[in-house]
Amino acid sequence: MNYKMWWKESVVYQIYPRSFKDSNGDGIGDLRGIIQKIDYLKELGIDVIWLSPIYKSPNDDNGYDISDYQDIMEEFGSMADFDALLHEAHAKGIKILLDLVVNHTSDEHVWFAESRKSVDNPYRDYYIWKSGEDGKAPNNWGSSFGGPAWEYDAETGMYYLHLYSVKQPDLNWDNPKVRHGVYDMMRWWLDKGIDGFRMDVINLISKDEHFPDAAKGGHEYGDFYPIVANGPKIHNYLKEMNKEVLSKYDIMTVGEMPMVTVEHARKYTSEAENELNMVFHFEHMGVDTGEHGRWCDRKMYLPDLKAVMTKWQTGLYNEGWNSLYWNNHDQPRVVSRFGNDTAYREVSAKMLGTCLHFMQGTPYIYQGEELGMTNIKFEKLTDYKDIDTLNSYHQFVEVEGMPHDEMMRYIYKKSRDNARTPMQWDDSEHAGFTTGEPWIAVNPNHKTINASKQMEDPDSVFNYYKRLIELRKKYPVIVYGQYELLDPDNVDLYVYKRTYKEETLIIICSFKEQEVPYALDGYDLEDAEILISNYPVEDDNANIVLKPYEARVYYKHDQGHINK
Ligand code: GLC
Ligand code: CA
Repeated sequence: MNYKMWWKESVVYQIYPRSFKDSNGDGIGDLRGIIQKIDYLKELGIDVIWLSPIYKSPNDDNGYDISDYQDIMEEFGSMADFDALLHEAHAKGIKILLDLVVNHTSDEHVWFAESRKSVDNPYRDYYIWKSGEDGKAPNNWGSSFGGPAWEYDAETGMYYLHLYSVKQPDLNWDNPKVRHGVYDMMRWWLDKGIDGFRMDVINLISKDEHFPDAAKGGHEYGDFYPIVANGPKIHNYLKEMNKEVLSKYDIMTVGEMPMVTVEHARKYTSEAENELNMVFHFEHMGVDTGEHGRWCDRKMYLPDLKAVMTKWQTGLYNEGWNSLYWNNHDQPRVVSRFGNDTAYREVSAKMLGTCLHFMQGTPYIYQGEELGMTNIKFEKLTDYKDIDTLNSYHQFVEVEGMPHDEMMRYIYKKSRDNARTPMQWDDSEHAGFTTGEPWIAVNPNHKTINASKQMEDPDSVFNYYKRLIELRKKYPVIVYGQYELLDPDNVDLYVYKRTYKEETLIIICSFKEQEVPYALDGYDLEDAEILISNYPVEDDNANIVLKPYEARVYYKHDQGHINK
């Protein structure tokens, strides 16, 4: 296998619309704002935009709680604005993926409004309703945003399941009417001309009908994941969706999947299985977690990261397809997390981009990553807007007694709002994001870190990312080459090789803040070409001394010569 496909050769750019560009001064990013920035994206060179949800929503979880799948969130604009955006993007050769959030709806969706009315309502079985025993919830699952995963509803005296907030009831995928309702909606968007879907927590849709208790004491944040993820009928449902909808269009699909293993991912993404094109897994996001899950300030240990990335690189080679990402709207900024966001911000941002973009898979750039945007530190808890951050603070500090300062330390490292501060367009007030008051404060470092400055500077992170994207278009080895990890135990360097036909790449990335002398045993790099590097290379390539966070990519056309 390893068929050539456009989505293997594409680079995706994720837009979180609320924070991207506000066109009308109400402080909230919108669709017209995105239209204004299409030329910026064209300049960067990306192929596909993934739009986080733009549908009608009461915004309990910033649009991941949808009340009408076929309407646009008022704050973001109208359906006419969406049509204009799709048209403008297509005119510039950019495709658009929508976020398909169908594990749950908003409790304000008409299906749920009906469902909760009575046990014999025609929509009752669209959701997961259970009676509790002796006034207790049907099982001990803790929701992903804190508190129990079951909510008692007085109307009918039963509980409904919500793996996320109480305002995000889970759909019952075992009901064929739910599945076909979703497929109809998908076809409606695809017929409009969108280019595919990013599917939110899609491997959670098939629940075990016995709803077994979670291990340990239960009632812990998201303790249901090991039970719910990759459930009994998941592959049947995805195959059905593929047959009914996906296979009928030339589109791209990516499944966001917590707790997905490489073995599962092969099944989800193998061309023979006819399910999805690629999965978006979280294993490498687990390298710096601790006893309170993500709420932790442990530093990542490089060999752990290398082991996870390598497992996926080799595990899906010829058997499926990877998504490559360092951050998204749920994760902190990568330069703050795995790099250095002070003295070495630019070089470390470039190094991280290099390390990822030469692997096999479809790369995802999260808005602002191409500028090396950093985490935010809000002094006041009330400046944070994310439901997960606020609920977690409540749980750990107010309920369980964790000291305030400790939790704030973790929030600075891991809050989802790190990724959600407005895009930094220029050095004016509110970073050129809005002329009004932004819904969440702008990072004060926009005076120095912003798009307008970087577009003019040939050495900027922006122009470096632009080159990374250009290289991918030029060298098939970047897309189709086989990956091999070199020097696995090196604690400072991530070194790997890619090979395809006559082409070889050697990628050397230093995660260290000091210089590292380095000799790569068995490889003759002296007459290899340097494709890209984040410092001018001054040594002779034989006696390498890597500067702090240095990255170099060597290229040879004739494989015979690079191996000594
Ligand atoms: C996904 C989204 C996240 C959302 C959750 C519930 O993980 O990426 O933002 O809160 O699903 O929809
Ligand atoms: Ca607006």
